[in-house]
Amino acid sequence: MQNKLKRVTTRTLQEMKAASEPIVMLTAYDYTFARLLDEAGVEVLLVGDSASNVIAGHETTLPITLDQMIYHASAVVRGAKRALVVVDMPFGSYQGDSRRALHAAIRIMKESGAHAVKVEGGEAVLEAVARITSAGIPVMGHLGLTPQSIYQFGGYRVRAKEASEAERLRQDAKRLAQAGIFALVLEKIPASLAQEVTQSLPVPTIGIGAGPYCDGQVLVLHDMLGLNKAFSPRFLRRYADLADIVEKACKQYIQDVKQRDFPSLQESYE
Ligand code: KIV
Repeated sequence: MQNKLKRVTTRTLQEMKAASEPIVMLTAYDYTFARLLDEAGVEVLLVGDSASNVIAGHETTLPITLDQMIYHASAVVRGAKRALVVVDMPFGSYQGDSRRALHAAIRIMKESGAHAVKVEGGEAVLEAVARITSAGIPVMGHLGLTPQSIYQFGGYRVRAKEASEAERLRQDAKRLAQAGIFALVLEKIPASLAQEVTQSLPVPTIGIGAGPYCDGQVLVLHDMLGLNKAFSPRFLRRYADLADIVEKACKQYIQDVKQRDFPSLQESYE
């Protein structure tokens, strides 16, 4: 029981890599789900900027703001008694100016109580990663299909299939590790490349659409729970069909209210 509540730290993840124990990460955006995921034993909760898609309904992750990420992160932190909470730094909060990046990371840590931040990209963010980690803030990296660069990529296809892009990814991974990241998300790249990076990197890799050889796996919560039926990429495994369950429950409620079946006298006060 005591062991169950021991907080997962960046060190725990390092030990899990060394012991070849797979790391489980899911996205979370609110208190209720964070509590459920934490109690289920998920080790890392990522307050993803995918909140921009699945919570706010935007087409991309670009519009979400730093204040909005801090709002989601504070709610997740309140629900997470054991999991490590990592927060995506939103588009525009860390690119280009490493001092501003540090300021944004400090705001996330101070105002939400989260334990780490995540940034997308390689060479272009090395200075920001080094500055943020030198202030004592753990940073997770993210390479491959980085959704904040979607307009540059021109679509959501698999990245690093060509030799030159694969080589850039290998170099970026190595330099991010040298700059101080504690873990690296690899998104939508060939499984063999993810395996190579995982074996050569001193820090854990966490894959999404990157095959079975990463040190851990992450999925977007709403996708794996089947809340978004329109989204079914090859890498996604659905563990529930919540959209159907929600629709069925709401239809039953509508029928009960319309037919004056709800509330009954037992569900009323005298
Ligand atoms: O924002 C997000 O949900 C992510 C995961 C896809 C890794 O970055």
